[in-house]
Amino acid sequence: MPTQSREVRLASRPQGEPTLDNFSFATVEVRDPDPGEVLVRNVCISVDPYMRGRMNDAKSYVPPFQIGQPLEGGAVGRVIVSQDEKFPVGAYVQSFYGWRDAFVAPAASLQIVDTAVAPASAYLGILGVTGLTAWVGLFRIAGLKHGETVFISGGAGAVGSAACQLAKMHGCMVIASAGSEEKVRFLREELKVNYAFNYRDGDPHEHLKRAAPDGIDVYFDNTGGPQLEAALSALRNSGRIAMCGGIAGYNTPVPGPRNLILVIGKRLRIEGFIVSDYFKDVSAFLEEAIPALKSGKLINRETVVDGLDAAPAAFLELLHSGAGNIGKMVVKLSG
Ligand SMILES: NC(=O)c1ccc[n+]([C@@H]2O[C@H](COP(=O)([O-])OP(=O)(O)OC[C@H]3O[C@@H](n4cnc5c(N)ncnc54)[C@H](OP(=O)(O)O)[C@@H]3O)[C@@H](O)[C@H]2O)c1
Repeated sequence: MPTQSREVRLASRPQGEPTLDNFSFATVEVRDPDPGEVLVRNVCISVDPYMRGRMNDAKSYVPPFQIGQPLEGGAVGRVIVSQDEKFPVGAYVQSFYGWRDAFVAPAASLQIVDTAVAPASAYLGILGVTGLTAWVGLFRIAGLKHGETVFISGGAGAVGSAACQLAKMHGCMVIASAGSEEKVRFLREELKVNYAFNYRDGDPHEHLKRAAPDGIDVYFDNTGGPQLEAALSALRNSGRIAMCGGIAGYNTPVPGPRNLILVIGKRLRIEGFIVSDYFKDVSAFLEEAIPALKSGKLINRETVVDGLDAAPAAFLELLHSGAGNIGKMVVKLSG
C-alpha cells in the first residue's frame, strides 16, 4: 500500500500579520525510495520565526515559499524504508523537508542523529540549529569572552535560552529580557541569569542601567526595535552586537534606532549572521554542547504542541510579543 503523507502548504501570502487562512492542508502519496534514497516519517518538526520572511514574495538569503507548496523547515524523523545501507530502518534523521508527515529523499541530504544522547526533539533545539545559532552569535560573531557582560533579548525563547546558558557556562554576566513574568521567572530560577526583566514592563534603558551600571560588552539581538536602541546606549566603548534576529519588525517594519550614531563615538561593531553559513562549525559546537547537556549544565527547554494541524497556530504564536513558548517551540507528530 502506498504511504500517505499530510502536509501543510502556503495558501496565500500575508500582508502584515499572518493568519491561519494563509495555510492549507493536503494529503499526498509518497512513492517508494529508489537506490540511495530513504522514506522517512517525521516525529517532530520545527516552527521558526524566519519562516515569516519566506511567506513574502521577496528576494532574501533563502527563497520564498511558493503558494500551493509544502513549507520547508527543520524536522527529525525515522527511516521507514531504506535503499541506503548507511541509513538503516529505524535510524533517526535530521532534515529540512519541513511540515509534512513523511517524505522520500536522497539519504545524502540527511544527517543521522543519536537519540541515545538526547531525545529526537533536542536536535531541533539545544543540539540543533537553535543551539548552533546561539553559539555562533556569541562566540564567532560577538567574540564573547570569560568575565564579560552580555545582554540577550528574547532570552526565554529557543535561541535566547540557549545563548543565556552558553554565556553563563563561559563565565559571563548575563542580562536577559522576555515578554512575560513567567518567562522572567524561568530566566531567573532555571537559567540562573544574573538579571532578568520584562521588556514590556518599564523602560529597557532603565533596566540595563540598573543591571550593569558600568555598561555591557556584548548585545545578542533577537528582536531589534526598542531593545536594540537601549542596548546601543548601554554598550561600552568597543562593544559588539551580534544581530541574530529582528522579530519586533517581522510583520510590520519598525524604525531603526534613533541613537545609531553612538556606533561611531563608542567604536562599536555590529555584525549580522546567518547560521547556515556556519554549519561547518557544528562539530565544534556539539563537542561543547553534548557533554554540557549530559552533565546538566545545559537544559533543553521546549514547549510542545501535538499534531501537524497545530503547526500553523504554533508558528503564529511565536510572532507575538509575550508569546506562549518557553524555549524551543516543537510540533510532535505521531511518527
Ligand atoms: N540569524 C540566524 O541565522 C537565525 C537563526 C535562528 C533564529 N534566528 C532569529 O532568532 C530570533 C529568535 O528565534 P527563535 O527560533 O529562538 O524563536 P523564539 O525566541 O523561541 O520565539 C520568538 C519569540 O520572539 C518574541 N517576540 C515576538 N514578537 C516580539 C516583539 N514584537 N518584540 C520582542 N520580542 C518578540 C516572543 O518572546 P517574548 O515573550 O519574550 O516576547 C517569542 O517567544 C528570531 O528573531 C529569529 O528570526 C536567527
